[in-house]
Amino acid sequence: MSMQSVASPAQVITPAKARSLRHIPGNEGWPIVGRTLNILADPKGEVERMSAKYGPVYRSRVLGETSITLLGPEANELVLFDQQKLFSSTHGWEIVLGRLFPRGLMLLDFDEHRLHRRALSVAFKSGPMKSYLAALDAGIAARVALWKANPGQMQFYPAMKQLTLDLAATSFLGAGIGPEVEEITRAFVDMVAAAVTPIRQPLPFTQMARGVKGRERIVAYFSEQIPIRRDREGEDLFSQLCRATHEDGALLSTRDIVDHMSFLMMAAHDTLTSSLTSFIGELAANPEWQQRLREEVRGLGIDANDPSSLDNLEKMPLTEMAFKEAMRKKPPVPSIPRRAVRDFTFRGFAIPAGTLVGVNPLYTHHMPEIWPDPEAFNPLRFTDEAQRYRHRFAWVPFGGGAHMCLGLHFAHMQAKTFTRHFLQNLEVSLEPGYKPAWQIWPIPKPRDGLRVTLKAIN
Ligand code: HEM
Repeated sequence: MSMQSVASPAQVITPAKARSLRHIPGNEGWPIVGRTLNILADPKGEVERMSAKYGPVYRSRVLGETSITLLGPEANELVLFDQQKLFSSTHGWEIVLGRLFPRGLMLLDFDEHRLHRRALSVAFKSGPMKSYLAALDAGIAARVALWKANPGQMQFYPAMKQLTLDLAATSFLGAGIGPEVEEITRAFVDMVAAAVTPIRQPLPFTQMARGVKGRERIVAYFSEQIPIRRDREGEDLFSQLCRATHEDGALLSTRDIVDHMSFLMMAAHDTLTSSLTSFIGELAANPEWQQRLREEVRGLGIDANDPSSLDNLEKMPLTEMAFKEAMRKKPPVPSIPRRAVRDFTFRGFAIPAGTLVGVNPLYTHHMPEIWPDPEAFNPLRFTDEAQRYRHRFAWVPFGGGAHMCLGLHFAHMQAKTFTRHFLQNLEVSLEPGYKPAWQIWPIPKPRDGLRVTLKAIN
């Protein structure tokens, strides 16, 4: 394929004119806000209603621009696998993430993206993963021990958010980060919260203003640390990136490391918090599955206080299936945006270059023709046999293709390490009749924090 036909990061892609999309069935809702409020209130219901009325390719208006939603596994394959290099991730995500996480890996395209992804991959090879596991394992064991010493009612979501943040401080930044840790994590939390705030300008006293200030602090911190980390043998993810090189042997630039680190921390944070919360929520609601996973953990033959090894985690297939099923029901990234760099056709509809398009893991994960009884929690949907005949883009919590989540194994490692310590020491339950309500968009979280009861076990 010739390079001229592929958008470069510097290339401006002009948004498609609204009138060039009028042949596509749909409804753009109210002036200015479009259908943003419908999506915020009930994203699953909104997509289901729109698709029932207009079909699997429909026109809508969210966050100030007309967009086209493409539904189903074939649409996921076209857009995410993107064999013809038709879709820009940079110009899809920039509306949401461009100001605070510019030039993160997901915000790079095509050849430049490939070069950076290759450079970053060293930090996800098995050697570094083993040292992240040691950091995660120690942090999780200590936190579970604390919960075990104070059992009873707790709000699970904020506790998980704090734990994920504390784990990132050691596995991403290294144990020796010192007294600045509070300030750095605060700045980072402000940035992440601002990424999804409805007011997109940094006006005084808004979350976006706090996010922009947080970014300044993070940029300063990472920049001053890079030369120090290059001289040390640190095994944390930040130190790995400080020593990472491009194919020609050149180190990544300061700016690149800062942008990649900020993005990586953001990409890991809310997604892990969300998925681990929905996972534990499902185990609390389905005690028979909780017990099956506890038996799997006990079958590892390690004491409750022993550290976990990669080998242990590989022997937890049921846990992996149950975690996958929790992410099927509540994918942490419910919709994925792109912008077409060339004209294309899908299901007979001609869609022009410049169109903002979205695919929807949330919808695909609940299609009854693929997932019978889609609201039921059934990890057996993920046996090898059950998966064999399913479309490979029917389950896409980590995306697919060139931008497939780089932290996928990290996420599974954290989930299994957590399950192992948690289920070996605690039993989790919900009050009878309690059905927690979830806000699903932009990232799923329980509206009341998820009230659970913990009981210590031996
Ligand atoms: C359950 C947890 C997670 C979920 C569900 C998740 C989901 C995703 C999805 C859907 C994408 C692709 C988005 C797109 O195609 O536009 C993605 C990309 C990415 N994720 Fe994750 N993620 C998770 C955890 C993590 C963690 C722990 C890390 C880092 C340690 C991470 C790092 C990344 C990076 C760097 C990308 C960009 C990849 C690229 O553009 O080449 N993620 N993630």
